[in-house]
Amino acid sequence: MVARPARPRRVAVILAAGKGTRMRSRQPKVLHPVAGRPMLHRVLDAARSAGCERLLVVVGHGADTVRAATEAAGMADGVEWVLQEEQRGTGDALARAEPHVEADDLLFVLSGDVPLLRPETLEALATAAATTTGGAMATATLDEPGRLGRVLADTAGDGLERIVEAADASADELAVRRINAGLYALPARHVFDDLRGVGTGNAQGELYLTDALGAAVTAGRPIALLELDDATEAFGINDRRDLTRAHRALIDRHLDTLLTAGVTILDPGRTVVEPEVAVGADTVLHAGVSLLGATRIGTGCVLHQGAWVRDCILADDVEVQPYCVLDGARVDEEGRVGPFTRLRPDAVLRRGARAGTFVEMKNAVLGVGARANHLSYLGDAAVGDDSNIGAGVVTCNYDGVRKHRTEIGAGAFIGSDTMLVAPVRIGDGATTAAGSTITLDVPDGALGVGRARQRTIEGWAVRRRDTPKS
Ligand code: UD1
Ligand code: MG
Repeated sequence: MVARPARPRRVAVILAAGKGTRMRSRQPKVLHPVAGRPMLHRVLDAARSAGCERLLVVVGHGADTVRAATEAAGMADGVEWVLQEEQRGTGDALARAEPHVEADDLLFVLSGDVPLLRPETLEALATAAATTTGGAMATATLDEPGRLGRVLADTAGDGLERIVEAADASADELAVRRINAGLYALPARHVFDDLRGVGTGNAQGELYLTDALGAAVTAGRPIALLELDDATEAFGINDRRDLTRAHRALIDRHLDTLLTAGVTILDPGRTVVEPEVAVGADTVLHAGVSLLGATRIGTGCVLHQGAWVRDCILADDVEVQPYCVLDGARVDEEGRVGPFTRLRPDAVLRRGARAGTFVEMKNAVLGVGARANHLSYLGDAAVGDDSNIGAGVVTCNYDGVRKHRTEIGAGAFIGSDTMLVAPVRIGDGATTAAGSTITLDVPDGALGVGRARQRTIEGWAVRRRDTPKS
């Protein structure tokens, strides 16, 4: 029996040390979010999904910040940080990885600023790399190739001749629209020797990784070209225009998946749904909706214009009327929110509950079928099933030092403009009189009145009108 050669160990080397000068930013380039997440984290995700056994990230410019942000996001598991103290180019960055890898490894060399890559592409690169001795690289054909490196193919078209950087290209070379995506699968055995043979005699005075690929070809180790079907995968981000383009492309990619899955999106150009957000079939998204973070939306929901929703769970058949801000909230089946509602973290609407115009909720539960339709603040509160919160009700949860809870039973009626000074409990079926300041518990079925009795002074208004001005 012939033993099949073992699959080479896959090691990702993510180049993320560059200055990213053209971003004109205080922040390291690879931390700029694309569709809500730092571009480096998207690259890490793809490398993990492609089964990389090791994840080397080359950092330099802003290294501590990059490391800290990656740890804070819970993305640093298994990452080995490699330092490139001086940013002398992509070739020099890759060279820093040499002490950390073995000759038999297959290196997925990835750019920290090319975040739209798919794990399937890495798989395809590995397959292509197995057909030749030099390895493989991804290319794409762009209408606007900008400053990306131009790929000059061999006469057959499927192998590399060399890569020329935009800064070094002649007019003819610049006219080439096939670009280097900055994604490679390279056998570790030769690449470091090839890098050692490369100079810095180019327009940027840098050690170009791309020159090492040209050197491999010259040395008789062909590099396979993998042309990407979806050219957006090759979007590299060097300035803010690139960032906009990549952000939009990643959002559009997800919107397209959702359209296929039965979501109605009335105006995709004005809708943002980040890639991690799930949306059920028959849900309708109007213009100006933003669904962000770890949001999950059920089926049959309607989100009207201007809903901004981050890290929320909306069950089936929920309606969000125009101009609502929902952050870290949960709305169960048939809940209704808006217009102009703000739900903050741990706001919960149980089945059929409603929060209406200018209602703010934080760490507060509206029970099944409960309603707070107008102008209320509910913080650190629980409202029982079917209770009604009148207009202008406020849970006074903060005494300037500590937060306190308000408990409202089932079937309660809180009169308009009631101030509920927490800690306080309103019983099942209890009522508070409109305009009350409630500082004491109201038992089940009782009425709580906490306001001054009205005085009526007969003739007062007439007298004031008729008194001559002095
Ligand atoms: C590079 C490629 C170009 C390709 C493009 C794809 C080279 C010479 N050119 O150009 O052919 O079309 O990517 O997007 O490789 N980096 C370091 N250390 C450095 C310099 C860069 O780690 O000293 C990192 C950067 O942080 C970045 C990546 O390498 O994540 C690419 O560097 P960048 O300067 O953006 O190269 P490009 O000009 O985009
Ligand atoms: Mg770049």
